[in-house]
Amino acid sequence: MRILITGGAGYIGSHAVKLFLARGHEVWVYDNLSQGHRAAVPADRLIVADLAEAQRLDHALVTHRVEAVVHYAAFALVGESVKNPAKYYQNNLVNTLNLMDALRRHDVKRFVFSSTCATYGVPEKVPITEDEKQRPINPYGNTKLAVEHALADYAAAYGWGYAALRYFNAAGAAPDGQIGEDHDPESHLIPIVLQAILGLRPEVEGFGSDYPTPDGTCVRDYIHVDDLAEAHLLALEKLQPGTQLKLNLGTGRGYSVRDVIDTAEAVTGKLAPVKEGRRCWWPLPKEGKRNWAGNRAIPICVRSSRRPGTGTTAIRKATTIEGRS
Ligand SMILES: NC(=O)c1ccc[n+]([C@@H]2O[C@H](COP(=O)([O-])OP(=O)(O)OC[C@H]3O[C@@H](n4cnc5c(N)ncnc54)[C@H](O)[C@@H]3O)[C@@H](O)[C@H]2O)c1
Repeated sequence: MRILITGGAGYIGSHAVKLFLARGHEVWVYDNLSQGHRAAVPADRLIVADLAEAQRLDHALVTHRVEAVVHYAAFALVGESVKNPAKYYQNNLVNTLNLMDALRRHDVKRFVFSSTCATYGVPEKVPITEDEKQRPINPYGNTKLAVEHALADYAAAYGWGYAALRYFNAAGAAPDGQIGEDHDPESHLIPIVLQAILGLRPEVEGFGSDYPTPDGTCVRDYIHVDDLAEAHLLALEKLQPGTQLKLNLGTGRGYSVRDVIDTAEAVTGKLAPVKEGRRCWWPLPKEGKRNWAGNRAIPICVRSSRRPGTGTTAIRKATTIEGRS
């Protein structure tokens, strides 16, 4: 299939690019490199452009005769979205509508969308299933839900087939160490813990220890990026005109901050300097029913986040753990 991957030079997108190419698909990456990395994708597959540029989108879709789009490009810092919602509505909603307009112009009707468990807000029950009410509690979640609504309307009116994949926390890196997580600032726990162990930051800070969980630290569901990539491909292969797939992507198993720190210490054989701080952003599910599960557990996510030979993660610097999803 000829697939355009927006945000493909970013963390999750670059792992999808690698998998899709390995499976024989024709892939082009559309990324403005605002967060992504040129080196994360093959140079001959990269189109450096912004979703706001309608002509560049038209050119990419026509030149490469694109049949389907996987849309990762977005801003994804919850705290920043609260401080600067305009930035999030502009990029996550307006620019996505711009992309969808371009797809209409060129009759591309298959669309896989990176949505998020943040669209559920504070759930009434855990585990969070797809029938949970979507009531986001921050602008980031609102922008993602707004796109989900637009996709449902486009599917009904224009015969699109789409999948809205609502991820929990992406984790891990490619087993060959070629690509991994490289956000600046970093907001995800596993790379932050590994950075602290390596002395690249003073300590792990800011997760809270007064949650109603067995060890008092926040429990989250982590899914390996390679499992996310597999799920996107499976979803894409299912899409027919009118298909509407709305799926949560997680393992259905929660791990606490303490579990992650313990695992990182066991994997590296070193202690992580930890400072208790403010709470992280939202609760996550316990055990229970799920429709799809990733295969890779947290030790694999932690191990694969180390770079072979160096034991370092693919991360630069950050301040505190902030809700990012
Ligand atoms: N990381 C997670 O745990 C997680 C969880 C749930 C959902 N998501 C969603 O998954 C997607 C990818 O997340 P990520 O962690 O890989 O983020 P990322 O920041 O690493 O990747 C996003 C990519 O999109 C690009 N981009 C942003 N705006 C663009 C624009 N206007 N035009 C072109 N390119 C643009 C960036 O340069 C970057 O390469 C996002 O949509 C995010 O909301 C992520």
